[in-house]
Amino acid sequence: MAKVKVKYVCTDCGTESPKWMGKCPGCGAWNTMAEEAETTFKAPVGRGERLRAKEKAKSIIDIESGREPRVPTGLNELNRVLGGGLVPGSLLLVGGDPGIGKSTLLLQTSHALTSQGLKVLYVSGEESVRQTKLRADRLGALSDKLYVLCETNLDLIEEAIADVEPDFLVIDSIQTVYRPDVASAPGSVAQVRECTGQFMRIAKVNGVATVLVGHVTKEGAIAGPRLLEHMVDCVLYFEGERHHSYRLLRAVKNRFGSTNEIGIFDMSEDGLREVLNPSELFLSERPLGVSGSTVVASMEGSRPVLVELQALVAPTHFPSPRRMSSGLDHQRISLVIAVLEKRMGMFMQNQDAYVNVAGGVKLDEPAADLAAAVSIASSFRDLPTKPYDVVFGEVGLTGEVRAVSRAETRVKEALKLGFKRVILPEQSIKGWQPPAGIELIAVRTVADALRAALE
Ligand code: TYD
Ligand code: MG
Repeated sequence: MAKVKVKYVCTDCGTESPKWMGKCPGCGAWNTMAEEAETTFKAPVGRGERLRAKEKAKSIIDIESGREPRVPTGLNELNRVLGGGLVPGSLLLVGGDPGIGKSTLLLQTSHALTSQGLKVLYVSGEESVRQTKLRADRLGALSDKLYVLCETNLDLIEEAIADVEPDFLVIDSIQTVYRPDVASAPGSVAQVRECTGQFMRIAKVNGVATVLVGHVTKEGAIAGPRLLEHMVDCVLYFEGERHHSYRLLRAVKNRFGSTNEIGIFDMSEDGLREVLNPSELFLSERPLGVSGSTVVASMEGSRPVLVELQALVAPTHFPSPRRMSSGLDHQRISLVIAVLEKRMGMFMQNQDAYVNVAGGVKLDEPAADLAAAVSIASSFRDLPTKPYDVVFGEVGLTGEVRAVSRAETRVKEALKLGFKRVILPEQSIKGWQPPAGIELIAVRTVADALRAALE
């Protein structure tokens, strides 16, 4: 038997090398070169490929424009993240920790699509067809248009696709599928890449919207090559905390829409439920009238969401004080603390500071700065915040409060949830009419905001 030639491929950027190297010559990453067997690429010669070969280059003027056709999935939160619905022929990757609910989400999506008369093929490499049936039973997702296959051999999966001719295809998961003509094991760089490439062709040629489920490694990346993310049209992450029932779906890449929108679900006994009013959910456990708790009006895509931001400032036992934050950028918290120290004279060198966004939400906009400042100052001085206040604004280095976008939307959300006052940047109250029933406190500096919030 001929000796199998091997090469080394970077799992991050795909650079190839004939010998192993500690550092990738392409992207400079360390320890990313993985061994794989050399494969010779044979262009597939199916019917679809022959049809495709006729495609000629066209002048851009002659190309029909118009929006991508979309198939709404029946799950509004998913539609929101996708930018309206599934695009036929597109390839999606859904990543997430094991047990977070990916299979549940896709089975429910499949069911919603079959109720519209579409045909779905659900290929599970991880669970038997009976397990899938049990789950579908529990979710109330039984339909004669939902086909289930327990298979990991790509050739056989392809046969099933030709057989069923689905409109929607789910591969759960890409790490279990293998091509028999590729020498490496399922889940290896080579297999994942080759199989993804094949699913891409299947999706494009047959116009089937295809979802690949991917597992996430401890480091938070989708297991297998990062390359996978470059190959597909959309990458969605399904996240949440194990101990909480809500789950967030966010897009990190979307060729057909924005990546700002998030979808919010609640995992219940009978599957995932869409959360129509996220603010209510995120504020449900909020303690009232205590120090260190502030409500921030943040924007998640086009949707305003009110969340609780907590801080605890306590004497340190370490030579250098700890600064911990979850759900907020560490750098922003350091900046806010530095501003409080320098501009407000709050001495925190001997204090640990913990900042936490309740509910596992991630706030990545500077509008959360002012709420963080209020929470930290409230805890430091042990002064309670007012339960009827909402705070937002960006904090600058001189302690000034800077304007943020969409102030009106944020204020309306606060009003809707029964808050009485909003502390916001002075620059943000121009150009719109505040609604009746809520008091706006426009502030110029962090000092103004703390006075309004804590005194
Ligand atoms: P699952 O969809 O299997 O996760 P993944 O495919 O991401 O690994 O979901 C697993 C968890 O969800 C499991 O611990 C049970 C829970 N679950 C519910 O709470 N309610 C339900 O209706 C279903 C189907 C699952
Ligand atoms: Mg699963």
